Parts: sequence; structure tokens; C-alpha cells
Amino acid sequence: LNVPFFNLLRQYEALRSEIEAAVLEVMASGSYIEGSAVSAFEREMAAYLGVNHVISCGSGTAALELALKACGVGRGDEVITTAFSFFASAEAISAVGATPVFADILEDGFTVDPLKIKEKITERTKAVLPVHIFGMPAEMDEINAIAKENHLPVIEDACQAIGASYHGAKTGSLGDIAAFSFYPTKNLGGAGDGGMITTNDDSLAVICRALKAHAGGKTGYEAAALLGESAGLSGENSDAGLSGLSGLSGIGGKASEFYDPYKYYNYLIADNSRLDSIQAAVLRVKLKHLDTYNQKRSLIAAQYNEGLANQALSLPRVKEDGSVEHGWHQYAVLTDSKDDLIDHLSSKGIGAGSFYPVPLHLQKAFSFLGYAAGDCPVAESVCSRSVCLPIFPELTPQEQEQVIEAVNGFGRS
Ligand SMILES: Cc1ncc(COP(=O)(O)O)c(C=O)c1O
Repeated sequence: LNVPFFNLLRQYEALRSEIEAAVLEVMASGSYIEGSAVSAFEREMAAYLGVNHVISCGSGTAALELALKACGVGRGDEVITTAFSFFASAEAISAVGATPVFADILEDGFTVDPLKIKEKITERTKAVLPVHIFGMPAEMDEINAIAKENHLPVIEDACQAIGASYHGAKTGSLGDIAAFSFYPTKNLGGAGDGGMITTNDDSLAVICRALKAHAGGKTGYEAAALLGESAGLSGENSDAGLSGLSGLSGIGGKASEFYDPYKYYNYLIADNSRLDSIQAAVLRVKLKHLDTYNQKRSLIAAQYNEGLANQALSLPRVKEDGSVEHGWHQYAVLTDSKDDLIDHLSSKGIGAGSFYPVPLHLQKAFSFLGYAAGDCPVAESVCSRSVCLPIFPELTPQEQEQVIEAVNGFGRS
């Protein structure tokens, strides 16, 4: 029997009646954008993660860009991130006009090396962007300490790590602001694109909320003031801004008789990146099961750790003191015969992934930055050796046994 690398339909089948009822409820409500499903999802998620603010948006990439902009990152700035991640982690930095600066990863893990971050700080550094890759929280205590010393905000890329925790706190609550993705294969996956930003900082939350939807209305006004771009309005507080607009109110009336100037003015050049109500409805159903799903991933990882006995592989390391709860978005083994292992598994009908074959500093799109092979040797070595095995909550014990047997049989023809 074939073992898929991932199968989304199994989760859908298990939750079918709940999901379909929730989707139909949105359809019948006539409220498809920013409706009650979205606000309920944001509230429930804030409670789940233990954060003050959840701002839903269109994708994880958008969440990263919004978070970067909210931290004031733009042209001429540098942001230090990891050399080992999905392209979007660094793409977002470039997309807001800044330069990604790549730091190597830890020898015995997949996350960024805090000491390498420290070495890369210059007077142009504007933020630090660690990635909780494969669901493994980055070394946040060290990263936060380095960032604090240098007065830099920390933006967590938590796209692969929803539900993971570090020293008792959930990812997304560990830095100044965080980005998550609801891409369908993520630990919490929608039925399409989606994302969110999380933060405990009231000002960052206002700016993100404004920037994700045209920066209009009161939120847009407040965001503009916070960003120090008062959009031509006088006065420091919002009342002064509102009265400054009353002259534009229309024919012979007070502003409020015709329209709310807060509502119909836009204060910044922003974006349109909202989470659809249908996506929020699907995600609300799945959020209730997220801890169970993550526990299943954890169990599968533990069984791989126990069952995999091929000396040619090294298995993912997890701290044994219980201080970190891994999200197990991916289970990656390292081997010097990566292509052969993937071919071997494929010949037995087993899906495997190569994440990530190219380190970010050597990506084609970043060739203009002038990095060369050897600049981040650990990430380069991991990219050439990493093979991800099937891990998803609905993987059956029989399927997992098949994977373990196939991996253990690799190289013993
Ligand atoms: C680490 C990481 N960052 C960013 C993203 C971007 O998320 P999205 O695909 O929702 O834009 C992803 C996922 O695709 C990711 O895995």
C-alpha cells in the first residue's frame, strides 16, 4: 500500500459535518468579509495562544510583511534571519524594501544560531526574524536577549509552529510580533490561503489592523499617527485629527451629518489582505482539535525516534528537559545519501520531502546579495542531507510501520 507524504482529505472526512455546517452558516449569513466568524476566530485564537491581539490576514507571507512594516522596517534597513527556511521568510523582508541578512543555523538543530545573529548586527539592522522551522521553537531566550541589548524588535516566523511552546509559552507570544500561516498543509490548515499576526503590543496591533485593509477609518488614522506619518492632519490626538477634517465634510454640513471622516479617509498606502469568513469558519472548527492533532504528531515523532535504527541517518534532536514542545510540522532525518533515500522510499510507494534543498542565501532571487557557497556551512550541509518523512495526524500506525521498515531497510539491499 502506498503511504502518502500528506493527505488533507482524511482530516476533512473526519470533520466533514462540522466544517460543512460552519461553511453553510457563513454562506447563509451574507457576511463574507470581516464578519462574525472572523472576529470569533481572532478571539478564540488569542485565548489559545495567550496573546492580547490576533490580526487575521490573507497569508503567512502577508503576515510577515505586515509585521515587518509595523516594526518600521523599510528601504535601507537590514533584517537578520535564518539561512534555512521556506523562501517567504526572506522574501517578505525584500518585499518591504529591506535587505535580508542570513545567519547560519545551529550545528545540532535546524533553527538559527543566536551567536551568528549577534555577529551580523550592524547600524542598519532594524529587526531580527527567527523561524520556528519544522515546528521547532528557535532559541528565543538568547535571541530576545541579543535583540534587547541592541534595541531591536523580534519578529517570529511561526508559520510552521502553531501550538508549539517554549518554556511554557506558545510560539507567537515569544517575541514582539509573530506571523502564522494557515496554508492547508500547516498544523492548522484552512481550505485555501490564510494567515495571522499575533502580538501583545497595542500599537503594533493597531498598525497591522490598519495596514491589512487600506488604513482607513479610525484605525488607519491611529496607525498613521503611530507611524509618525500624520497624513497632513494637525494635532497629536485623534480628536484634533477629526476636527481637522470637518472642513471637507460636504455641502454646508458638519462632518458627522454626511459621513464619518474617520471612515471614509485613508491615511496610509496600505494593502488588502483579509481572512475570508469561510476560512475563519473552517479554522474555528479545526482549532478545537489542534492540540489533539499536535499530540498525534508528537506521538508519531516519538515512534520514529524509537523505531528508526538505520546507522546511516541522524534523527531530529529534541531537548529532553521538557522545556520545549515541538510542533512536529516536519520530521526531518539527515543522510549523506539523500537522493538515494528518497528514491528508495518512492520505489516502495512512500512519499518523502526534501525540505529545503536550497539554503536561502544561495537562492537565485538573492544572488544580487553576493553570498557564496560556504557562507552558511551548516545550513548548506543540512539542505544537502535533509529528508522529511510522512508526519500528519491521520497517518495510521500501519503506514508508519511501513515507513520505518523501509527506512531501516535502506542500504541493505
Ligand atoms: C516558515 C514559513 N514562512 C512563511 C510561509 C508563508 O506562508 P503562506 O504560504 O501562507 O504565505 C510559510 C509557508 O508556506 C512557511 O513555512
